[in-house]
Amino acid sequence: MSDVYLNGQFMPLEQATVPVLDRGFIFGDGVYEVIPVYNRIPLALDRHLRRLEYSLDGIRMAHPMTPEAWRTLILELIARESSADQSVYLQVTRGVAPRDHAFPQGVAPTVFAMTKPLTPPPASWIRDGVSAITHADFRWLRCDLKTTSLLANVLLRQLAVDAGATECLLIRDGFLTEGAASNTFIVLDGCLLAPTRNRLLLPGITYDLVLEAAASHGIPHEERPVTEAELRRAEEVMMTSSTREIVPITRLDGVPVGKGRPGPVTMRLLNLYQEYKWP
Ligand code: PDD
Repeated sequence: MSDVYLNGQFMPLEQATVPVLDRGFIFGDGVYEVIPVYNRIPLALDRHLRRLEYSLDGIRMAHPMTPEAWRTLILELIARESSADQSVYLQVTRGVAPRDHAFPQGVAPTVFAMTKPLTPPPASWIRDGVSAITHADFRWLRCDLKTTSLLANVLLRQLAVDAGATECLLIRDGFLTEGAASNTFIVLDGCLLAPTRNRLLLPGITYDLVLEAAASHGIPHEERPVTEAELRRAEEVMMTSSTREIVPITRLDGVPVGKGRPGPVTMRLLNLYQEYKWP
């Protein structure tokens, strides 16, 4: 693996260690970002850095670096990795302090960054689609913040794995929020529907790019609340994320979605998305 970055220095992964009293370890008290990189160019970097600042503001942490300093660090990480397509991971925690829930005073944050080769989703996922299950969304009420406290997401994603599925779609009070680690779109009566951005789901960067692609290519679309009933009668369902792009979901709780094959809107968006990767 290429070098990682920890608190101002690049070093081999094996040398990057964090004290056990780091609040990331003790409380999951931190935020993170995942940024896809194509041909050594980070995709939508400004948006990822804005979301990082939004997450930091949301957990009441000062920004440890300016956007320019983040950019420099990220480009250096990318240059040190041999693959041209990568996924950059950034994490900031509230630092190392004696265990106490309240914020410590005068403690430096822990800043960590690494990158790894980005492997596209398997061709069979695009050809056939994947299956998903649904489950009650039992996460907290600030899912708009990209925090490292991901236990609920971990448990929900594992339910999908246990069921032989790829993703777990989350339902809160009768409405679709998102997936355990992705956003979800449906196509209903030919219209692409995106669950409304609010505090109950992550404002995905891929989500934004998909909506922009739809807007600029005349694909009917709407951002509005999506009910569980609408999810179940959708013609198409898809999941989106920075690492998996756009993946058709063709079975939901064991029932075929629409015709049980990847649909035309999903495939069109997937093609349009490639233009973002290679502008
Ligand atoms: N996760 N919603 C959740 C809960 C997610 O964890 C993710 C991505 C998304 C999609 O966001 P974006 O398009 O900005 O990647 C939505 C990342 C990839 C992860 O945790 O690894």
